Amino acid sequence: MPATVVIGAQWGDEGKGKITDLLAAKSDVVVRFQGGNNAGHTIVRDDEEYKLHLIPSGILYPEKTCVIGNGVVVDPHILFGEIDALRSRGLPVENLRVSGNAHLIMPWHLLLDGAWEKQLGRLQIGTTRRGIGPCYTDKYARLGIRVQDLLDDDILRRKVRAALEEKNWLLHNRFDIGILDPDQVADEYLGYRARIEPYICDASLLVNVALDDGKEVLFEGAQGTLLDVDFGTYPFVTSSNPIAGGACIGVGVGPTRIDHVVGVAKAYTTRVGEGPFPTELFDADGDALCEAGHEFGTTTGRKRRCGWLDLVALRYAVRVSGVTHLALTKLDVLAGHDTIKVCTRYRSNGDDGGEGGTFDEFPLRQTDFHHAEPLYEELPGWTEDIRGCEEWADLPQAARDYVQFIVEFTRTRIKFIAVGPGRDETIILPRSIGRGGGV
Ligand code: GDP
Ligand code: IMO
Ligand code: MG
Repeated sequence: MPATVVIGAQWGDEGKGKITDLLAAKSDVVVRFQGGNNAGHTIVRDDEEYKLHLIPSGILYPEKTCVIGNGVVVDPHILFGEIDALRSRGLPVENLRVSGNAHLIMPWHLLLDGAWEKQLGRLQIGTTRRGIGPCYTDKYARLGIRVQDLLDDDILRRKVRAALEEKNWLLHNRFDIGILDPDQVADEYLGYRARIEPYICDASLLVNVALDDGKEVLFEGAQGTLLDVDFGTYPFVTSSNPIAGGACIGVGVGPTRIDHVVGVAKAYTTRVGEGPFPTELFDADGDALCEAGHEFGTTTGRKRRCGWLDLVALRYAVRVSGVTHLALTKLDVLAGHDTIKVCTRYRSNGDDGGEGGTFDEFPLRQTDFHHAEPLYEELPGWTEDIRGCEEWADLPQAARDYVQFIVEFTRTRIKFIAVGPGRDETIILPRSIGRGGGV
């Protein structure tokens, strides 16, 4: 697998950290290509838990090169906090690199993220309030400040001053939350220069040279397909492109260089923050999923909304990212239900300007998705604890049938089935199942 992209196929928190950690064992370079410290990727190794927000999950292998691509937004305070935390646990970070073209999260981005959410009131998105949206907004408005700007006092000061002319007006007049002093902000950020300079790189060059040399490169996505700014449940999305195509833009590699796309999906569905979620459960089944899956956000600690697996949305995720292999996580969490439901179609009543009707594919009009009622098929459940299962044949028949149903419905192949948070708690199928292939 020379170039493999790992993406979230749902609303984030699918277990990308765990799958990246697993695949990183055979990779030489691990690259993050979008998002920022809104992400929270958990890795469990030998009963030790690591939570990474900004640094690629490959960092737990000190010999691997880990790269933060140009598509990522970097809060330097968080970056150094994470570096220090890793070092204090005995993990070196000398092989970390940061693209000089990555944009910096500035103090006004954090303030504006909170202010915009407050202004939206009941309509708020439920962002992580890490300044992600405002930072990408400035990037596309061509007002952003990039990592390489830290290398030049004069440029940084000018850019901060120019940005604050507008932002201070907003902060003061529009939101009444005080103003920021340009010199103070510039001093703070210039203070990061000595620390960040050794890590700055040309990420596109580094990754392309690695690929030319026959190295294995893993692109680690953050968030998930349904949070994609173009393909997600807009406007309840993040401000970047978590789909596989984002890897090309967020690192600077051509689409022809990508060999595999691993779509990570939970065996059920969760969502943090606001926005439509057709299969969301408000009953004992939902509580059971939340409890068994420990569904609390890695970044904000918020309770994740839980529901049955939405196969219409999953098939859509497979389509928009060209997923070649699925990694199904948290199958162990589903144990103990008499029957398990999977959503195979939606029905919308067409209210509020929707088209209405039944939908086999993800609806075009947002109104239809907002009103979507899930149409389910019920599959038999299992009671056995499957955390110790190491092979396909170890799984109860009902669990195998469940996986087979997903594979056939989404018309893809499956390579990994995670049955616990630990690295070893993963069934790696010797021959992936799907599209006519047997195990
Ligand atoms: P990410 O953002 O996609 O990396 O996912 P998170 O780390 O935010 O959330 C996934 C959570 O599920 C983490 O606490 C993982 O340790 C845990 N996890 C991952 N795979 C499995 C699994 O197969 N079974 C169980 N029980 N937990 C898992
Ligand atoms: P990982 O990488 C789950 C959600 C937020 C909010 C919306 C926009 O751990 O899967 P933002 O702060 O990005 O502007 O918030 O996106 N969100 C995530 N949900 N996992 C994540 O990352 C998320 N990153 C952002 O809750 O609904
Ligand atoms: Mg997460």
